[in-house]
Formats: sequence, structure tokens, C-alpha cells
Amino acid sequence: MTEFQPRVFSGVQPTGNLHLGNYLGAVSRWVPLQDQMPTIFCVVDSHAITASFPNAQELTDATREVTAAYMAAGIDPKKSIIFNQSQVREHAELAWIFNCVARMGWLNRMTQFKEKAGKNKENASVGLFAYPNLMAADILAYRATHVPVGDDQKQHLELTRDIAAKFNNDFAERIKELGIGVPNPTPSPELPEYLYFPMTEPMIAGPATRIMSLRDGTKKMSKSDPSDLSRINLNDDADAISKKIRKAKTDPDALPSEVDGLKDRPEADNLVGIYAALSQSSKEAVLKDFGGQQFSAFKPALSDLAVEKLAPMTDEMRRLTADPTEIDKVLKAGAEQASAIAEPVLKEVRKIIGFLDVR
Ligand code: TYM
Repeated sequence: MTEFQPRVFSGVQPTGNLHLGNYLGAVSRWVPLQDQMPTIFCVVDSHAITASFPNAQELTDATREVTAAYMAAGIDPKKSIIFNQSQVREHAELAWIFNCVARMGWLNRMTQFKEKAGKNKENASVGLFAYPNLMAADILAYRATHVPVGDDQKQHLELTRDIAAKFNNDFAERIKELGIGVPNPTPSPELPEYLYFPMTEPMIAGPATRIMSLRDGTKKMSKSDPSDLSRINLNDDADAISKKIRKAKTDPDALPSEVDGLKDRPEADNLVGIYAALSQSSKEAVLKDFGGQQFSAFKPALSDLAVEKLAPMTDEMRRLTADPTEIDKVLKAGAEQASAIAEPVLKEVRKIIGFLDVR
């Protein structure tokens, strides 16, 4: 290989329902990429056990639901590989190797671990701490070059690059000797002449990289917020969507005409960002239309738009989840395709490390 084959990898955890943040920050942005390069979209079930083991049936159901959401959003199993992580053993194997590459200090800096472990760090699972290494393994088992995610995954992607760089450096001689590296277009003291793992590019862009809670514009919209009014779930019906937007927190002022005017107005900024992402435009364009108007006029327009965009998807998700055997077929075919890429990568990684191959 003279250069890395462009390849997209991304995933969502099957913990509860998907919400508008997952859709606008990630899944909706994956759809056009399918026509640009090979794409792999994973339901990351091994990640879903790091905080605690969910009820077994709920985990199974959520895995199928997330798969249905991918498909309803426009991820096409004929164009993309769709599978659930636990079915491809190479993720776990590479994660172990990366446990031995990543440094404690690197993981100690991860803000998401600090947030999720809270005050009770001593009682958090080792899996929750090592989780970013598994995420790096997810990506690098396919030597993926592009990872479209929301803003909250940025630090994990930096860690993925640190892991790739350390592996490439630590095994530089061996990678060169085995002739399985890819020439580094920009060799530097930090990176050797040949690379085994690509330096993955994060793709974090657009008006919806960080959708905030509808109840508090300073908090991220998340599955774990105890208030259901804080988020729009992808399986909410039209009434629920309208109610949540109607009740969304705002300030008393009219919308500004310029993006600058959204500064220090987190709730207004969030709702305008949601409108922009749903209408596939920009905050500037939305403010051109709505600048000077009150929330009493903007909210109904946002609500109509959200229902128009989300309702067909919700219906399609319902249709798909009614037939789990079809979903399982998609996941099975996807796992086979994913294994066909990851197995040879792990074979080379074992060789680079020097694990004796006797089979
Ligand atoms: P997860 O399951 O928490 O979220 C899935 C995707 O949704 C994005 N997201 C948001 N985007 C905008 N606004 C929000 N409020 C919001 N909340 C979530 C996330 O950034 C993400 O893109 N560790 C990952 C899953 C993962 C992964 C991977 C991703 C595991 N391995 C490899 C990419 C590549 C996670 O927990 O995402």
C-alpha cells in the first residue's frame, strides 16, 4: 500500500433511546459519507457494559433499536457495513494490546471518565477507565482514516491518535522490516517513515456538534439526564416533540439577526442550531429568516420542522423493529464483512509484536 485507503468508522452505544444529539451530531452526518468512501457503522455494545451491566433483554433490544435507527436515518446496508461490536472479537483483542500501549497518565486526563465516575472513582469499573482504548481499537482494527462524531468524543479521538503514534514509533523498525507499513507523507521526529496505523482524522463539524439539554442550555443533551423533557428521543411521537419544544427553556429576548448575538444566550443558540441542522442550513441562514422574532413564533416553526423530519424516521424504526429477524440478518452480514477486514489487521499486529503464530 502506498497510502491508507480512506475509510469511515463510527458508532453509537445501545444504552436506551437515541436522542436528537446522537442523530444531528453523528448519525445524520454519516449518511452522505456513504457515497464518498467505504463506511463502517457499529453498534458498540461492548461499550454499553462499562458503567454497569444493563438488563440482558434490554441490551439485546437496544442493540436492535439502534440498528433500526441507523437504517431509518438512511444508513444503507448495501453501501455500509452495519454490525454490533461484540460479534467481531478483534475489537477486544486489539483493545488489550492498546491497554499496553496507552499510559495511565493519558487515561487519567479523560474528562468523560471523570464525569461518568463522579465522586466514586474507586468503585468505577476498570472497563470504564480503559474504555477509550477500546474505542481506539474499534477504529484502528479497520485502519479507519475518518471518524465522524459529536464534539464530546474529541478527546477520545486525540487519544486514538496518541495510541497510533506510539505504536507506529515503538514498532517502527519492525513495521519497516516486515514491509507492511504505509509511507508517512510527512515524516517528522514525532512519526517514523512507515506507519502501520493511520493518524485518524476526527470529523466534528456543522451546527450540531454539541446539542444541549432543552431544560438547560449549558448542559449537553444526554441519555442519562433524569428529565425526559431535556431531550427529544428518536422514538418520541409528534405530540411529545411539540410539547418538549414548547416547554424548552428560553430567555425573554427576541432572536438576534446575527450569530454574534447568540453569545451568552445558550438556550437560544441551541434552538437555532437545532433548526439549522434539521433544515441542513446554517445558523446565519436561520437568523436571516427569524432574526427579530420572538420565541412564541420561532418555537412552533421549530416544532413543525422537527416533526416533519423525525416522524417518518420514527415510523420506519417502528416498522423495522417489528421484524427482529431482518435486523439480525443485516447485523450478521455486517459482522462477516467487518471480520474480513479486521482479521488480517490483527494477524499483522500479532506479527509486528512477535506473538508466535503456530496455527
Ligand atoms: P455515544 O453513544 O455517547 O454517542 C453517539 C454519538 O452521538 C454524539 N452525541 C452528540 N452529538 C451532539 N450533541 C450531543 N448532545 C450528543 N450526544 C452524543 C457523540 O459524539 C457520538 O458521535 N464512545 C462513543 C461511541 C464509540 C465510537 C467508537 C465512536 C465507541 N467506539 C469509535 C466513534 C468511533 C460514545 O459513547 O458515543
